[in-house]
Amino acid sequence: MTVSSAPGKVYLFGEHAVVYGEPAVPCAIERRARVTAEPRDDDHVRVEAVDLSLDGFTVEWAESTKDRPDVDVPSSLVEAAMGYIEEAVAQARDALDDHDAGFDITVESDIPLGGGLGSSAAVVVAAIDAAVRSRDQRIDPRELANRAYQAEHTVQEGQASRADTFCSAMGGAVRVEGDDTRAIDAPELPLVVGYDGGAGDTAELVAAVRELRERYEFAADTVETIGDITRRGETLLADADPGEKPDGALLQELGELMDFNHGLLSALGVSSRSLDTMVWAARDAGAAGAKLTGAGGGGCMVAVDDTDSTQSALGYTPDCAQTFRAELATEGVRAEE
Ligand code: MEV
Repeated sequence: MTVSSAPGKVYLFGEHAVVYGEPAVPCAIERRARVTAEPRDDDHVRVEAVDLSLDGFTVEWAESTKDRPDVDVPSSLVEAAMGYIEEAVAQARDALDDHDAGFDITVESDIPLGGGLGSSAAVVVAAIDAAVRSRDQRIDPRELANRAYQAEHTVQEGQASRADTFCSAMGGAVRVEGDDTRAIDAPELPLVVGYDGGAGDTAELVAAVRELRERYEFAADTVETIGDITRRGETLLADADPGEKPDGALLQELGELMDFNHGLLSALGVSSRSLDTMVWAARDAGAAGAKLTGAGGGGCMVAVDDTDSTQSALGYTPDCAQTFRAELATEGVRAEE
């Protein structure tokens, strides 16, 4: 039995704009997807998924994941989850140069599915790693990040950046601009996440932003402005001492940029009433700044606050189903016992 885990992430800056070549800065957090892989003697793949913030499901397929599990959750989420796992298996088979390799796969995750914390990237990264290692081979994290990106790219119909998958494979804070992917030093940021219990469909949201950007000049300008904010945010992060708590002034400035970023994402139509409510609850509680994270449409927001006020305010916000402090995950994909 081979187990790999990979972390989720929050975006400090730049989601959506990164799809059009602007820079983004995601940051891995200590919420992980764990995937167990066992080789099979035949060419079947059996997937059991538990605790993906949807009812667990089990499905077995021979040639494809055409048989969908019968569970009482939005079918688009199940479709998306199965699609990601199917593509991860295809990438593992390709890495192994064995296109008939069969696996029993179990997915467990404490990252809400579709909630903006990079659940699909973490599952894909951990699944490729576990499947390859289960057949006594190794895959280098950069190759793994690239393969996971190819898998996401296929599922999201060609509309994915390298940000989620690179961040999950490498851990820590990263910077992604087109094909240029690199780790960056980041201070220890006091991140607080609020989760509305819902989810957005990444492929749909990305397609909606693309359409808006093609129809309206303001939307294309908005995407570019998000890029400017990200560059400014990066400069601030570079001024802080890596691994240390940033001083209050720097936190305020970072928070202000996150507020701007949220406003621009709202203008692109990817926020929601519950995300806005949680963002305002955090700001009213004294957070330095707050924004949605990930594709949007529902799911999670992230705030910076070094006091307990934001978490406590979110705890009393009816639109917030769960709130927690997000620790930076310095390790990306890793083998588990
Ligand atoms: C989704 O987590 C982030 C997006 O920027 C899409 C992507 O980068 O592939 C919305």
